[in-house]
Amino acid sequence: MNVLKHILAGLIAVFLLSACQPNNNSQEQSSIDQQVEALLEQMSLEEKIGQMCQVNGGGGTLNDDFKQMLKEGRIGSILNEVDVTTINEIQRISVEESRLGIPVLIARDVIHGFKTVFPIPLGQAATWNPEIVREGCRVAAAEAASSGIKWTFAPMIDISRDARWGRIAESLGEDPHLTSVLGAAMVKGFQGDDLADENSIIACAKHFVGYGAAEGGRDYNSTLIPPRELHDVYLPPFEAAVDAGVRTFMSGFNDIDGVPATGNEYLMRDVLRDKWQFDGFVVSDWASVWEMINHGFAADEKEAAKRAINAGVNMEMASTTYEDNIAALISEGLISEAIIDQAVREILRVKYEAGLFDNPYIAEENQYQFAKPAYLEAAKLAATQSMVLLKNNKQTLPVSKNKTIALVGPMANQAYEQLGTWIFDGDSTLSVTPLMALQQELGAGKLLFAQALATSRTKHTKGFKQAIEQAKKADVIVFCGGEESILSGEAHSRANIDLPGAQNELIRALKQTGKPLVLVVMAGRPLTIGAVSEHADAVIYAWHPGTMGGAALADILLGKANPSGKLPVTFPKVVGQIPMHYNHKNTGRPANPDSWTHIDEIPVKAPQTSLGNESHYIDAGFTPLYPFGYGLSYTTFAYSGLQLDKDVYAQDDRIQVSFELENTGEVAGDEVVQVYVRDVAGSVSRPVKELKAFKRISLNQGDKTSVMLEIAIQDLAFHNIDMEKVVEPGEFQLWVGGDSTTELSTTFKVE
Ligand code: NOJ
Repeated sequence: MNVLKHILAGLIAVFLLSACQPNNNSQEQSSIDQQVEALLEQMSLEEKIGQMCQVNGGGGTLNDDFKQMLKEGRIGSILNEVDVTTINEIQRISVEESRLGIPVLIARDVIHGFKTVFPIPLGQAATWNPEIVREGCRVAAAEAASSGIKWTFAPMIDISRDARWGRIAESLGEDPHLTSVLGAAMVKGFQGDDLADENSIIACAKHFVGYGAAEGGRDYNSTLIPPRELHDVYLPPFEAAVDAGVRTFMSGFNDIDGVPATGNEYLMRDVLRDKWQFDGFVVSDWASVWEMINHGFAADEKEAAKRAINAGVNMEMASTTYEDNIAALISEGLISEAIIDQAVREILRVKYEAGLFDNPYIAEENQYQFAKPAYLEAAKLAATQSMVLLKNNKQTLPVSKNKTIALVGPMANQAYEQLGTWIFDGDSTLSVTPLMALQQELGAGKLLFAQALATSRTKHTKGFKQAIEQAKKADVIVFCGGEESILSGEAHSRANIDLPGAQNELIRALKQTGKPLVLVVMAGRPLTIGAVSEHADAVIYAWHPGTMGGAALADILLGKANPSGKLPVTFPKVVGQIPMHYNHKNTGRPANPDSWTHIDEIPVKAPQTSLGNESHYIDAGFTPLYPFGYGLSYTTFAYSGLQLDKDVYAQDDRIQVSFELENTGEVAGDEVVQVYVRDVAGSVSRPVKELKAFKRISLNQGDKTSVMLEIAIQDLAFHNIDMEKVVEPGEFQLWVGGDSTTELSTTFKVE
């Protein structure tokens, strides 16, 4: 009967709104628009409000109140329901027993995998490989869709420059260009070519916007982002997500200079809708509409609802200020029914695009399709490419297979902990830990194991003795530590980002055996491992690598795979250096290595101006532990012959950057080539350099290849003194290399 209702509504709409369309896509869109209008016309105010409400699921149960709400059309979306039978029943009630038969949108945080877990997004960013990232999201979408999910709250594309912030784990790092490229790849992976495909789920660009600038890295905190920085640094990844076709946005928890993101009319109307022409919909973050009362931005729930609706939040997650207040707001003339119609129109449009009206159910043969061999293979490849070799003295790595390894440490055999944050559905029984993988590769005789510390936070040292005994018997020690999953992610900010517990002490004790020591760090953020890594001969940063992390690590340790990850974020030496990012401004007094004096070398009673009055710390200096873009390989690469196709470019030109890349080492490997540009002088000061292009290139030993990367001159645009986005004529410097400190450079001009 409901199907008939829709067909009828569709026919009426076609009759009312017939128009000729130039191509299939716009024909499809126009037919969706017609169906949306026809449906909207039949909806009561209560039913419209219902579409704007997202409620938490019952975890596989549906009580009578919930069923009644569905029948009355009071729920537009449900989050956190993953039981297919329950989801099909939710849809059956909505479609068959509600007046208009509108299906419900089922949502879940599918952040870096569903059952098969991929590396945390920050780890995926270290692959600098949009193809791998897209594939990871494709797998996540297929698994989640087979569990009834049609909408994920990802990608998280908040620029993150503070390693204290627990949510840096979910981000793609500190750089707008890298985040834009990889965020767009995630959108394409989740949504596929056809949103209505049974393996596609709707993506959500979050958290709009500026959440990553939370003061002091304390989660949920206020942000102070100057308008130019907002437009040049924080907004570009979101614009790229719109260009990639993302259909939903999530408004953030944070306020920006006193205006909560969830009540920010300028951002959600002027920028998102008017400027970027986004015609999907915006969901609030969890209770972030209600939280505007806590912010002191709304006196009560009614005002909070009013501000969020006016600002352009279509759907309220978790809190109920919409359900409880919209009718009164309209009857009192405080908001118009037209604004509600528009909000609902945008939600319905996405529901139609997602194919929910055609088929709201999950067919039996498509249910619970998890952990297929190809999915696990993709997760392993992503983990392999995400691991960053930070140090490798005297070719400690790879370890030859005839050597005996002592595997030690609290993350060496933690099926759950290696998965990282946001793994609601992650299946730790699928995990391959480093111990499991090395056992398989080496057999028992060549592998000795001692966990030594029960968890990453364990402080007592009673396990040290056995670990040291094992280490003494081995040829090489692999210490696998870091931080457990729960130490990063939402609400898990840390003020001290050293290795927790007694790990530093254990590493020092292991080093005293005199054996070569490999430090493997599994973590959700950059940790300040500078001091302790001095005791290590080699360091691998493995992030939280997901289901196949151990298998990927074993391949790297034993040389079956060559490490190729590059840091998507600057690693500070000490927490006091934060915020620290490569694309900072030059200042009037840039740090100068020639005049900087370390605190311990300052002569007693040195005159105040004798030390070099430049921008630095007298104790921590001015360089990071590891720079953005950095990562070693078992081979070496040489760059040469840097050339641009012109000396002077017009505004609509593209720069062709050419150079030679040679694998000068003994084994095949991948290099991520990076191009940075500096606008030397502008109407406002510009960053010392900015990433503008990159590419992952595989080369066999001894091979040399010509590389050409293109940069549109318009990609050099920024917000000038008048806040207009322009490319200012003048001189530019351009660098090419394997990390952000590369010195191979040239110059060009723009007219
Ligand atoms: C709060 C988080 O900030 C957001 O990222 C997430 O998607 C929602 N909760 C839903 O779980």
